[in-house]
Amino acid sequence: MKTKLIRDFTKTCTDGWLQGWHERNGGNLSYRMRNSEVEEMKGEFCEEGDWKEIGTEVPGLAGEYFMVTGSGKYFRNVELDFEDNVAIIRVNEDGTKYKIVYGLVNGGRPTSELPSHLMNLEVLKQRDPEMRIVYHAHPANTVALTFVLPLDDEIFTREIWEMETECPVVFPQGIGVVPWMVPGGKEIGVKTSEIMKTRNVAVWAHHGMFVCGHDFDEAFGLMHTVEKSAEILVKVMSMSPVKLNTITPEDFRALQKPFGLTLDEKYLYEKHSGKIGEK
Ligand code: 13P
Ligand code: ZN
Repeated sequence: MKTKLIRDFTKTCTDGWLQGWHERNGGNLSYRMRNSEVEEMKGEFCEEGDWKEIGTEVPGLAGEYFMVTGSGKYFRNVELDFEDNVAIIRVNEDGTKYKIVYGLVNGGRPTSELPSHLMNLEVLKQRDPEMRIVYHAHPANTVALTFVLPLDDEIFTREIWEMETECPVVFPQGIGVVPWMVPGGKEIGVKTSEIMKTRNVAVWAHHGMFVCGHDFDEAFGLMHTVEKSAEILVKVMSMSPVKLNTITPEDFRALQKPFGLTLDEKYLYEKHSGKIGEK
């Protein structure tokens, strides 16, 4: 069965693979399904499976259905065999367990980052019920910057914003940075979902990035925008530790009115050092 949702989900996996963000099984994607999408596919669901522990609690998602990539599955293969690589799961009535109702036909389980995905989707649902997508990838330039920039939300946001005028328009709430942590568990999910309460981008130091969106284009475009700016910053830093010209705090403030933005002044600090990554 090839629904529009399956086509859109698959396209995002293929697009991410083509960007080079998904080596081996790197990255994962999840989507909180609409009732109409559940109804459309329900005839193909099997509700007989066992309940499994999520590893965290997401009571705000009780009874809901999610499309998620499988653990250890390669994004590259999603377009070749969707049902082998992707699952639809249902969360139980207290938000502690899930069962697979569709997909992963050759066995397996949902992504090891399921706690982070579901905790993010839970806070996003509260923020905006139409925010349905969480996307995790391993884009090289963003990861590279976590080795040379301070792991500080304000500095990270400001340095990335300065690389492209579009950035504060695309992610005006800025970026949150999670220090290195063991992936795949509740603890890193708690830190990431704390960021997603107010922002749409979380960078995991020395690992990758999480973004969210209302639809697949928005989530993918956000990942792409941050990573493109990170690439420009890597190029600039490889040429010089200082910039001769840049976008100034006054310039950023001037964007607010024409683009209908409110930018948090914490990102618009006056720089006392000319060096990239210093305040
Ligand atoms: P999964 O294959 O379990 O989704 O893990 C990939 C990954 O990127 C972990 O952070
Ligand atoms: Zn990862």
